[in-house]
Amino acid sequence: MHVLDLGCGVGDVSLLAGQLVGPSGSVLGIDRSQDAVETAERRAVAAGQCYWVRFASADFASFVPERKFDAIIGRLILMYLPEPAETLRRLAGFLRPGGIVAFQEMSMPTHEASPQHRSSHRCSAGSFGPSREPVLRPTWAESCFRPISLPACPSRR
Ligand SMILES: C[S@@+](CC[C@H](N)C(=O)[O-])C[C@H]1O[C@@H](n2cnc3c(N)ncnc32)[C@H](O)[C@@H]1O
Repeated sequence: MHVLDLGCGVGDVSLLAGQLVGPSGSVLGIDRSQDAVETAERRAVAAGQCYWVRFASADFASFVPERKFDAIIGRLILMYLPEPAETLRRLAGFLRPGGIVAFQEMSMPTHEASPQHRSSHRCSAGSFGPSREPVLRPTWAESCFRPISLPACPSRR
């Protein structure tokens, strides 16, 4: 399986995906931060995954891969983008038919602090505050992907 990890940062998610796909597959992590990419590359070497987990410095807006992918994944990415649906639509062109798109994002529809304090409003007024909640859900419909539902994770106690 060939996986593209968008906004890989220092490679946490890419390395997890690398364990799953193993040497018969591949993972390409991209990030616009050259520093993060260099750290991710060092970590892949240390983890013994550098032959199939690779990294490149690139911006989503201009990135054009050399191959198509079976899965496009990312963690904490869409919530920061000004136009997440547009980015997903563009990236859909790099996915094989029937491929998987999976992102883990954060949504905070309630953001009240108790006791109330203005600092909580200042924090939540940013990209992942309540103003983003109406954005992430329609992103999937707007970007032409069909959402699927997954069983809830068993609670860890
Ligand atoms: C919150 S970090 C998440 C990193 C990683 N996915 C993780 O969960 O550990 C977001 C990352 O997306 C990258 N990023 C944001 N916008 C980008 C863009 N337009 N093109 C490429 N990378 C971008 C940032 O450089 C940053 O490393």
